[in-house]
Amino acid sequence: MNLEKNVPLQPYNTFGIAAKALALVRVREESDLRAVLADPQLTTLPRQVLGGGSNIVLTGDVKALVLKIEVPGLRLALETEKHWIIEAGAGVDWHDLVVWSLDQGYPGLENLALIPGTVGASPVQNIGAYGVELQDRFDSLDAMDLLTGELFTLNAAQCGFSYRDSVFKHSSGGPDDLGLAGRAVILRVRFALPKRWKPELGYADLVRKMAETGIQNPDARQIFDWVVAIRRAKLPDPQVIGNAGSFFKNPTVTTEQCADIIAREPKVVHYRLDDGRIKLAAGWLIDACGWKGKTVGHAGVYEKQALVLVNTGGRDNPCTGGEVMTLAKAIQTSVYERFGLLLEPEPVVI
Ligand code: EPU
Repeated sequence: MNLEKNVPLQPYNTFGIAAKALALVRVREESDLRAVLADPQLTTLPRQVLGGGSNIVLTGDVKALVLKIEVPGLRLALETEKHWIIEAGAGVDWHDLVVWSLDQGYPGLENLALIPGTVGASPVQNIGAYGVELQDRFDSLDAMDLLTGELFTLNAAQCGFSYRDSVFKHSSGGPDDLGLAGRAVILRVRFALPKRWKPELGYADLVRKMAETGIQNPDARQIFDWVVAIRRAKLPDPQVIGNAGSFFKNPTVTTEQCADIIAREPKVVHYRLDDGRIKLAAGWLIDACGWKGKTVGHAGVYEKQALVLVNTGGRDNPCTGGEVMTLAKAIQTSVYERFGLLLEPEPVVI
């Protein structure tokens, strides 16, 4: 185990916020974690798990011991009659997994192309895009319990997935509470990709691509290319403009609440969910409040997608986490005043 001190975290968070980790250990294999747990100097320190840093806002130097997850590995773990079960180390870049799986001839992750972050972070917020969520392709994961040092495996039900949420985002409130935030370190994730692949083309942007190109039966590679093109056109590349993807979750409301909002705001973008509730497009709500292009210091609202907050100062004059959160709170207030809805941030604030 190599303990690094005062490590700059700017390269390790996609916002590009400048902050330091007072102590950091790179976790490439289980033994690195066991060494941390066995070290008497480190046992008293709080711990912060860091994956690709694509869903965090750093509001200052991190005083906890940062466990930077760099576990490698990509393999076909099992082939059953119905599925390919592929396994990836938690440190693998998410998009690299998507590309690798398609190159191997295992389709199923194409709608999730180009999502920033690592494989280990993907179950934490149950990443999703263009009609597919991680939980639709998830098989199981291996993790280590930081309290006991034990390795354990969780299936999908045990991960408690819901929209941009899982047990890994919640702290345990008591002995019966399954919250695993700060307690479990995800080491490997397995995905079940059905051999009878069916394209997922329900999302409006993909319907548009089909109409534009006249291709009615796209293969997985074609969908991958479309998703990459859609994301490049709409979302800022974190290598160029720092950001953490969608900053707020899309809120859900009852039919009555939605009818009430539509009566006042007929154009509000909304989708009916399977459970009867209605999801509203947070980007539209923020946009309607006139936030596109507005800034607080070097934190700003992306010009092309109001749901994304960006670092307008680049690497040299980056926004601070405080600026991001001040902007986020101002957006929450204005959306609340106009629509009576409290937007919930998606990233984890550290
Ligand atoms: N809209 C506006 N103005 C805006 C932004 C959006 O009017 O500034 C409208 C769009 O025209 C569209 C609707 O709002 O009618 C929804 O926008 P979009 O299709 O871009 O999707 P989204 O709801 O903003 C969600 C996910 C994204 C994911 C896309 C595609 C959340 C919080 N975000 O965005 O996920 O890529 O759908 O599936 O669920 C992420 O989580 O980081 C992320 C990028």
